[in-house]
Amino acid sequence: MLILHSGLFRLEDTPMSCCSINGLYKMFNESNAAKELEKYRSKGPTGPTKEILTFFTQERVMGKTLLDIGGGVGIIQHELIKEGIRNAISVEASPAYNNASQLEANAQGHENKIDYYMGDFTTYSSQLPSTDVVTLDKVICCYPNGEDLVSKSLILSNEYYELVYPSDNVFIKLGASLLNFYKRLTKKDYRSYVHSRKKIHSLIQSNGFDKIFETRSGFMMIEVYKKQVHN
Ligand SMILES: C[S@@+](CC[C@H](N)C(=O)[O-])C[C@H]1O[C@@H](n2cnc3c(N)ncnc32)[C@H](O)[C@@H]1O
Repeated sequence: MLILHSGLFRLEDTPMSCCSINGLYKMFNESNAAKELEKYRSKGPTGPTKEILTFFTQERVMGKTLLDIGGGVGIIQHELIKEGIRNAISVEASPAYNNASQLEANAQGHENKIDYYMGDFTTYSSQLPSTDVVTLDKVICCYPNGEDLVSKSLILSNEYYELVYPSDNVFIKLGASLLNFYKRLTKKDYRSYVHSRKKIHSLIQSNGFDKIFETRSGFMMIEVYKKQVHN
């Protein structure tokens, strides 16, 4: 079922605090959404997103359900639906990206397979159902409280948990600090965050997941975890 405006609150009812967090709605605005969609339409998935899709294609996710948090224009959703995912839930804080993702779902003819929720995932995660696959592709680096985002999304995964986030070495941290300094100078609200890989890993592991895949794409780490099965 396609929910044109969130099933939990309609776009026009959305409190600004939900989307103004970290300047996300300004950073991920209409102009950037249009560029991202155009790039996807002309080149298909690229970089870490392409790697994730290759991984899930090999895992044969046909018939499974997906929760894609911060999915942007919805590349993971659109491509995994083509691979046979039964249905997807999209949770996106940017109204412009949320709209672009719905536009593409309509263009590809699978709008009836995606439920759309708009806003900060952490504020209403407890109202969402669990799914077989949970993905956060380049999302925790846009969010101040990475551990909160990870712990609230982990509990919604029945099987696979996938993260793409920046490596936390000294050069990346320095780069993020310089970028944030520039944002401050130019009076932009958006900041990038380099979260501790060690903390994220132990949080996921302590919730009963094992890492089954790890690779690197540029300065981004791609990690997939699988829930331990207890007989
Ligand atoms: C760098 S973009 C990545 C988009 C897409 N996953 C991709 O890789 O093309 C990060 C996205 O995460 C969204 N986002 C960040 N924090 C979020 C949160 N707490 N809840 C929902 N969406 C969030 C932003 O609005 C943005 O669209």
